[in-house]
Amino acid sequence: MIKHFATKLIAWHGKDGRQGLPWQSIRDPYAVWVSEIMLQQTQVATVLERYPRFMKRFPNVKRLAAAPVDDVLAEWAGLGYYTRARNLHACAKQVMLEFGGKFPEDPMLLEQLKGIGRSTAGAIAAFAFHERAPILDANVKRILARLFGVDGAIQEKAVNEELWSLAKTLLPKNSSDMPVYTQALMDFGATWCTSRKPVCLSGERKCPFEKECQANLSDQVLLLPRKVIKAKSPEFNCDMLLLRHGDSVLLQRRPDKAIWGGLWSLPESAWRSKEKLSKLSVSNSAAFTAKELFQLVLPDEKTASVLKSFQFIEQGVEIKHIFTHRRLWMQIWHVTSSDAVKFSSDNLKWVPLRQLGKYGLPQPIKLLLQGLSLTRGDGLRN
Ligand code: ADE
Repeated sequence: MIKHFATKLIAWHGKDGRQGLPWQSIRDPYAVWVSEIMLQQTQVATVLERYPRFMKRFPNVKRLAAAPVDDVLAEWAGLGYYTRARNLHACAKQVMLEFGGKFPEDPMLLEQLKGIGRSTAGAIAAFAFHERAPILDANVKRILARLFGVDGAIQEKAVNEELWSLAKTLLPKNSSDMPVYTQALMDFGATWCTSRKPVCLSGERKCPFEKECQANLSDQVLLLPRKVIKAKSPEFNCDMLLLRHGDSVLLQRRPDKAIWGGLWSLPESAWRSKEKLSKLSVSNSAAFTAKELFQLVLPDEKTASVLKSFQFIEQGVEIKHIFTHRRLWMQIWHVTSSDAVKFSSDNLKWVPLRQLGKYGLPQPIKLLLQGLSLTRGDGLRN
């Protein structure tokens, strides 16, 4: 066991950790929770910009729970991983209904809430309630795997449990040290014990744990934690309809469970595997007609009236977007309609350009609409 780990780490933080981040000095569990969820897959620099804005719009759990989910998604637009926003909203409702509007202090109870995993529960309990609860995010897993020379793949259940148990053993004795200790652990992983350029390999010999770190002592720092080689994510393509009528554009609300669930996007075809791209592929076909396009992107709608009123069709840009486990090429098709055609689905809506800012749009679609200067004066923010 490493001697005085917590004390040394806290001392490190005083000297070399990140200071003055707006969420560091707070104890309001709501504010802590929002910051932790936002920080999960988003860079600190982005959170510094977006967190105050979110807190201003939804200053407490009651206001967040009472807001329509579309407002939360619109505020989250551009931050990615939209399940976080939907879970945030669901969790706020849960806190109101099941806990009378007060976040529970026990990490086991926090973990029962929507969108809060074991490590985030530990972080919230430590920051807001000074609970002696461990965290174990990817950065902390790396630190511990190196310090203790844990050699198994961290995805394995037994290895993961071993790391949790180490994380628990290292906690500071005083619960009042929990916020600074937890932040120090996060910062040490994010800035010093990094995946590819850890300070111990910079030649500076300044890591406070260099004499105890098993990976350092055995020259295995870059080999730990053991990585499981991931296959390249599969590639897909689809067609997207950018249908305009006067000052409006047709948006479609995406199903909750899909990628970009609950956001408003352009009607799109089913995804096709890029490897299987054949002569039949619409995007490649010269003889591609408006009828084929409408059948692909709006298969459940009677599109005869659109076809009657459509004025021109033009192939637009192809946008590439990388998701966590997929890569997607979206072929945009511009169509102009002389009528605001009525559609049967409630998930299809003509939206005036000046109102686009009120809708949660996927970032690439938002950029596309901005880029086409469709959105001039509509209040769309980055
Ligand atoms: N990532 C997750 N939580 C964080 C925090 N509190 N500070 C910096 N990065 C984080």
